[in-house]
Amino acid sequence: MLIDEIPIEKRFIKLFRSAGIKELYPPQEELVKCGILLERKNLILSTPTASGKTLAAEIAMAKSLEREKKAVYVCPLRALAYEKFLEFKRYEDLGYRVRIEMGDLDSSKYKKRPDFDILVTTAEKCDSILRSRPNWFDNIGILIMDEIHLISSDRGPVYEILVSKFQKLFPEIQILALSATIGNADELADWLNASLIASEWRPVKLVEDVEVGGNKYEKLKEITKKSVSEGGQVLVFVNSRRSAESVAEKLGEDLNLAGTESAEGIAKIKKEVLSVLSIPTKQCKRLGNCIKNGTAFHHAGIIHKQRILIEDSFKDGLIKVIVATPTLAAGVNLPSRVVIIRDVRRYMGGESNYIPVLEYKQQVGRAGRPKYDKFGRAVTIAGTDSEREFLIERYVNGEVEPIHSRLGIEPVLRFHILATIASNFTRTEKALMEFFGSTFFGYQYGLEGFDILIKRILKKLGDWDFIKKQNESLIPTALGNRISELYIDPQTAYNYIRILEIAESENRFPTIGLLEMLCDAAELPLLYIKRQEEQKIWEDAYKNSDKLFRDLDGFDLDADLLERFKTAKLLEFWINELSEETIMEFYNVAPGILYQKLQIAEWLAYSASEISKLKGLKNSLKATKKLETRIKYGIKEELIPLVTIKGVGRVRARKLFNAGFKSISDLRRADVRKLKTLVGEKIAKGIKVEIG
Ligand SMILES: Nc1ncnc2c1ncn2[C@@H]1O[C@H](COP(=O)(O)OP(=O)(O)OP(=O)(O)O)[C@@H](O)[C@H]1O
Ligand SMILES: [Mg+2]
Repeated sequence: MLIDEIPIEKRFIKLFRSAGIKELYPPQEELVKCGILLERKNLILSTPTASGKTLAAEIAMAKSLEREKKAVYVCPLRALAYEKFLEFKRYEDLGYRVRIEMGDLDSSKYKKRPDFDILVTTAEKCDSILRSRPNWFDNIGILIMDEIHLISSDRGPVYEILVSKFQKLFPEIQILALSATIGNADELADWLNASLIASEWRPVKLVEDVEVGGNKYEKLKEITKKSVSEGGQVLVFVNSRRSAESVAEKLGEDLNLAGTESAEGIAKIKKEVLSVLSIPTKQCKRLGNCIKNGTAFHHAGIIHKQRILIEDSFKDGLIKVIVATPTLAAGVNLPSRVVIIRDVRRYMGGESNYIPVLEYKQQVGRAGRPKYDKFGRAVTIAGTDSEREFLIERYVNGEVEPIHSRLGIEPVLRFHILATIASNFTRTEKALMEFFGSTFFGYQYGLEGFDILIKRILKKLGDWDFIKKQNESLIPTALGNRISELYIDPQTAYNYIRILEIAESENRFPTIGLLEMLCDAAELPLLYIKRQEEQKIWEDAYKNSDKLFRDLDGFDLDADLLERFKTAKLLEFWINELSEETIMEFYNVAPGILYQKLQIAEWLAYSASEISKLKGLKNSLKATKKLETRIKYGIKEELIPLVTIKGVGRVRARKLFNAGFKSISDLRRADVRKLKTLVGEKIAKGIKVEIG
C-alpha cells in the first residue's frame, strides 16, 4: 500500500514522505485496513523487531491529532524515549507541540500546565505526572505503550497500572501496545479488549545462527574481522560490564578497526569522551583507547553523555564495534549488520541461568535494521557441538515466553495502593479491588485471596498515618498525599519518619547517621560487601555507633546494616569533597553508577526534608535540607552559600572559599580581577552580575 492511500489528511502523508517513507510495510497496512483508526479500538501490535511498529503507531497518533486529541508515547528507557522524541520532532513542522518528560519524579515541582500535543515519556515519569497532574492529559486521544513485554520485568507493574489508570480516567482513550516479543499476545489483547495484529514479517532478512568456538574470544574475533572487512558493523552482547570492557579493548588492540580515513573524527570523539569529567577516570581512558581502535564498550556504568557519544559515532560509522551489556537491547535502531551473542547465561539471583528467549530475540533484533542494512546476521557462540544444538533448539527455534504480571507482591502493591488512594482514584476498598481487578494482574490471576494482602497493606498504611478510614471511605492524609507525589515507597517514608522523630527528640543530627537513614530505602541500590571487608566495616560502624540511629547490638538489627553503612560512607566522601576519581577508585564503582547513586540520594534527601516539613520536625527539616544541598553539589557545609550562584559548583566554590571569599557579601566586595584569576573571566563576570 502506498502512503497516499492512508485515509488521513494530506499534510500527514507529506510528513511521512519527508521521512523517506513511500510504501507501508504489511503490518502497517493491516493496521490501516483493520478499521481501528476509525473505530478507535485498542490494538496490540505483535510483530518482529524492525518491522516498523513506530510508524504504525505514528499513523494512529496522527489520526488522533487530526481529531485534535493529544498523544502520549511511553517508552521503557530514556535512550529510547530520546530517539522517539527526535523522530517525532518533525510534527513541529505541522504546528504540533512535541515534548519529552524524563527524570525528576516529584510531580509537584511542576506547577505549570504543559502544552503538548505529543508527549514522549518514560513509564515512571508518566505515572508520576498522572498522580498529581492528571489534567495534563485532558483531551488525550491515544496512549502508546512501547515494548509492552516489559510488563513482566521488575518495572512492569508501573506499565500495567498506567494502562488501567488511563482507561479509568479517560474511558474514550485508545490504547496501542507494541512489542516484538510477547508469547501470549492474545491474552494481552483479551485483557485490553483489543484487536491483535500479529505477524512474522520482517523487512530485512535476519539469519540467526549458532557457531562453535572452543575459544569464544577467538571465534568472535574471527566473525568481527570478517564482518568489518565486508563493510558491516558489529554489536557484541556479553553478560557483564567487566567483559564488555575487556572484549572491546582486546578486539580493538587485536584488529585495529579504525580506518585511516576517519582518523580525524575518531580523535575528536576520543577527546570528547575524555573531557566529560573534569579528570578522566580509568574507565574513561580505557574507553578512549578503545575508540582510538574503532571499538567501544557500552553499559550502565558509563556516563550518559558518553553513551550518547558512543551511539552517535557508531551510527556515523566511526566506531565499528560496540560490545554491550543487554541494556542496549530494547527498541533502538543501530547500524549493526551483525550481532554476536557471546553469553547466553547470566547471573540472576546468585546463580547462572540461561537468559529468556525474549531477551535473546531482542538482542538479535538489533541486527539488520532497514534504515541501515539490507540483511542482518546474528551469531550466538557455543562451546561445543552439542551446546550448539541445544542453543538452536532453545533460542533460534525457540518460542518467546508468555508475559506475566508482577504486580501482586507487597512492596509493589503498597506503592500503588497509596497512589490510587492519594490521587483520589479509588475511595473505597471495593473500588480499590475493582481497580486492581482491571489490571493485567487481575486479569491473569483474579483477585481471590488477594483481598487479604490488600487489607494487610491498608492496615499498615493506616497505622503509618498515610491514609484514614472514615466509614467505608479511604482518605489520604496530607502526608500520604505528599509521599505519593514524591514517588517514594511508603516503607521508605515510614523508615525515615521513625529515625527523624528520634533525631528531633534528641536534637542530634550527625551526618553519617542521617546518611545511613537515607540508605534505608529500596530506591537506592546499596554497595555490595565482600566477605573479606566485612570485619573492617563492622569495626568502622562500631566506631560510629554513637552517630548512628541504630542499636548495633540489638536483636532487631537487620541484615542490610553493613551495606547501608558502606554506601553512607561513600556519600560522606562525596559531601566531604573528595574527588570523584578517588571515590570511584576506593569503592570500585564506575562513573555512571556513582552518579546514579548520587542522584537518587539527592532525591531521597529532598523527600526526607519534605516529610520533616509535614511532620512539623523543624530541626530535622533544616538538617535534611542542608544534606540535600550538600549531596546535590558534593560539598562541605561551609560552601552552601557559594553554590547558590549560577555556574559555581563544588570545585569553583572551594577555590573561592579558600581564597577568602566565604559568603555572598565577600563576593560582592571582591575585585572582579581577583575573581577572574580564580574562576575565569566569564564566571567572574557572571557572579558580579548575579549578586549585583
Ligand atoms: N514503511 C516503511 N518504509 C521504510 N522504512 C520504514 C517503514 N516503516 C518503518 N521503517 C523504518 O524501519 C526501521 C525500524 O522501525 P522501528 O524502529 O519502528 O521498528 P520496531 O518494529 O519498533 O522494532 P523493535 O521491536 O526492535 O523496536 C526504522 O528505521 C524505520 O524508519
Ligand atoms: Mg520499536
